[in-house]
Formats: sequence, C-alpha cells, structure tokens
Amino acid sequence: MNIYVDSKMSDNDRRKELYRGSIFTISPSPSALNLCQLAKDLIQEAFAPLDPLNLHEMLPPERCAQILAVLKPKFIHHPKAKEHLVGILRESGCDLEKTYFDVPRMRTAFPGDYLKSGIAYAFHPHRDTWYSAPFCQINWWMPVFDLTAENCMAIHPHYWAIPLKNGSSQYNYHRWNLESRRNAFQHVKTDTRVQPHPEEAVELDPQIRLVCNVGGAYLFSAAQLHSTVPNTSNLTRYSIDFRTVHLDDVMGRIGAPNVDSACTGTTIGDYLRGTDLSHLPQEAMALYLDGTESQHAQPVSTLR
Ligand SMILES: [Fe+2]
Repeated sequence: MNIYVDSKMSDNDRRKELYRGSIFTISPSPSALNLCQLAKDLIQEAFAPLDPLNLHEMLPPERCAQILAVLKPKFIHHPKAKEHLVGILRESGCDLEKTYFDVPRMRTAFPGDYLKSGIAYAFHPHRDTWYSAPFCQINWWMPVFDLTAENCMAIHPHYWAIPLKNGSSQYNYHRWNLESRRNAFQHVKTDTRVQPHPEEAVELDPQIRLVCNVGGAYLFSAAQLHSTVPNTSNLTRYSIDFRTVHLDDVMGRIGAPNVDSACTGTTIGDYLRGTDLSHLPQEAMALYLDGTESQHAQPVSTLR
C-alpha cells in the first residue's frame, strides 16, 4: 500500500493503484479552491453573525441541525458546485467523457458530543462498499477550513485485505433512500436509522490521518475502512467529499476486491458524466441492478 503525493501518474494507472489500496493526495487546484470557497461562503452566510467554527459554544444543537438541514442541500445542489467539481476532475487528469461523479456532499464534525447524529452524522468505521457503492468507486475528500490531526478523518489500512464482521447484509441503498434520508435532520442526539456497523471489535490502529491544506484532496478506494476522527480540536471541521467511477471499470467490473460487503442495491444510478451530466448508459447500470431498486421505488411525487 502506497501513499502518492502529487503523482504525475495517468488516471488509468492511478485507478489501478487505488484498487490495490493506495492513497493519493493532490495539492489544491484552482477549481478545488473555488469549490471550498463556495462552501465557506454558504457556511458563513448560514450561521452569520456566529463564527461557524465555534457553534458548539453558542448555538443550541437543535437549531444548528435545522440550519444544516438547509445549508447542506443548498451546497449539494448549487449549480456552481458541479461546475467546480468537474474542474477538479479536469485538473486532476480525469477523462471527462468517461468519468462520472456524484454530487459533492458537505460534512461537519463538531467537537465533543455537541451534534453527532442525523444531519451531522459522525461516521463510525465503515467501507462505502457496505453502503451499496460499486467496487470501482473512488472517494475524494477535502477540508474547507484548516485541518488538524484532531478533527480529520482516518483510514484503517490493515482491513484492506482482512474481513470485518459487519451489518451490510441488512443494508439496501434504495430502501435507505426511501425511508431515511429525507428525515436525517430529525436525528439530533441519537440515530435510529439502520446503518451497516462493524459487528466485532475494530482495531483502529494503525490508522492514517491525512492532513492536507484547504482545497487539497485525498483519494481512496470505496473499499477502504475509514471513520470520522473524534473531534478533540475544539473547532468544527467542515469537509467536502464526492465519489467518481470510470466507465471502463464499470463496464469491466474492475475495482477493489470485496472482502466483506454483503449489501444489496446499488448507487450506480447516482453518477453523472463529467461532460454533459448524463447518467451512466443503461447497459452499464444493468450490470449492477439486482431487482431491489424496483421494490423500493420512490413515488414520483417525492423524487428530487
Ligand atoms: Fe465513507
């Protein structure tokens, strides 16, 4: 397992390395800085006149959750967010004709026990492949404000090849979408939604905490075990993450090995092409659909 810093490797070779468990860090590109600035502006506007890094000292958590419930979708669906994201892909050597992404998410990690569930969920150790992601999915993660080792995220690399007993067999992405996502803001102190957790003790160490500058990104496979670091910094962490897949790997079923994921459903319908925001071709999606998508179809009136 290797960590590459500003590698000149082609995207094709980079993906092969990612599927072997390697991690890539990329210095801030112009579009990444623009995306972070957009996030920062929206955050400051939403919480004004409060300092968004110190909300835990001055804002009731319920009120904070309400604001985040507006702020986060506003960022996700902001037209400039997709534009900057595509710019990041271009500046990182991705072929936009064949690279598909899902919309960028804004995440928060608050100090202590202030707000750790629902809209500000503190992610326990998990692989995204427990959540119905394809094995060719690559995760991109970047901080919006200055980051420290006390408020970042961690990768637990020794589980790359070691199975971990987990609840992914109970998880279906389509059911999750239908039942849970729209109610996330209601879960302020506890979270009753069924998520795939480890079902045995997890050895968190050794762990890799990558601390990059604002707009710097790190890339890792969706099959890596990763978690939110307990925030002991006394400052809120805001970060952006998004996911990509490459058409050739989707079609060829190429990706990281599956050591322990047993979920059903697929996120394959979420990705948008870098050039024209079209979805993956039907024949590509068909390789991943298992029939559960029609069991949990959303009523047309609730589709976003
Ligand atoms: Fe994740």
